[in-house]
Amino acid sequence: MKIVINGITGKMGAFLYNYLKEKNEYEVVSGISRQTIEMDIPIYHDFTSCLENETFDTLIDFSVYPNCLDVLKQGISNNKNIVSGTTGYKKYDAQHITYLAKKHRVGVIISPNFSMVNKELTELITQIQKLLTNVEIIEEHGIHKKDKPSGTAKFFAKILNIDKDKIHSVRLPGIIANHHLIFADCNQSIELIHKINNRQAFINGIEHAIIEATNYKTIEILI
Ligand SMILES: NC(=O)c1ccc[n+]([C@@H]2O[C@H](COP(=O)([O-])OP(=O)(O)OC[C@H]3O[C@@H](n4cnc5c(N)ncnc54)[C@H](OP(=O)(O)O)[C@@H]3O)[C@@H](O)[C@H]2O)c1
Repeated sequence: MKIVINGITGKMGAFLYNYLKEKNEYEVVSGISRQTIEMDIPIYHDFTSCLENETFDTLIDFSVYPNCLDVLKQGISNNKNIVSGTTGYKKYDAQHITYLAKKHRVGVIISPNFSMVNKELTELITQIQKLLTNVEIIEEHGIHKKDKPSGTAKFFAKILNIDKDKIHSVRLPGIIANHHLIFADCNQSIELIHKINNRQAFINGIEHAIIEATNYKTIEILI
């Protein structure tokens, strides 16, 4: 499976590249970066040059919203499958991306969190909410995170049907991504804390998404 990474110099893109290049089933053919850097694969400043020069199946994107939108749309229109973990997408983006993906018969998976934030966890939190109906979310990330509140917190808020003003954002050095979900009534509370200690936590979910998008043309947009 041939892959291109948009945002290959970033914390997540670089981590993912170092992981995928050791795996026989993937070949990362190139990356995209605005910087001029030397790597062991070609790095393109723009996606158009990459499309002109490289043959690949799937574009993986860990970059910056809204800049990622043009890259995604260009990729889909050139029949590339997409896995994007970039956060900050708006609800209306989902509709257009789904339309394009169906038109070009490609797989597209967008998720704000490829770790254990999955079906089982969302079922668990909806069960807890039935017992304790008041819910607030605290999300903590590193100081360089551009979007606020986090895509994961917005995703939880949507699942729990609570307003965005119930989300509280913290930006401090040394944090990757933590989410506290506090459920309470007048007498008691339950606090669920999900902490990312290492970017390896995202890898299983990303690999699963690559296979789903590339082999099964799955369209799943969690915004
Ligand atoms: N879904 C998940 O599970 C998951 C996990 C981790 C992170 N994320 C998300 O993934 C995204 C990247 O995270 P990260 O921690 O890797 O961030 P980062 O270290 O800041 O990397 C972002 C990369 O995007 C590229 N980029 C392209 N256009 C840009 C622009 N206009 N401004 C700034 N950078 C631009 C930059 O590469 P050049 O400077 O080389 O162009 C940069 O290296 C964020 O949205 C983050 O929330 C999601």
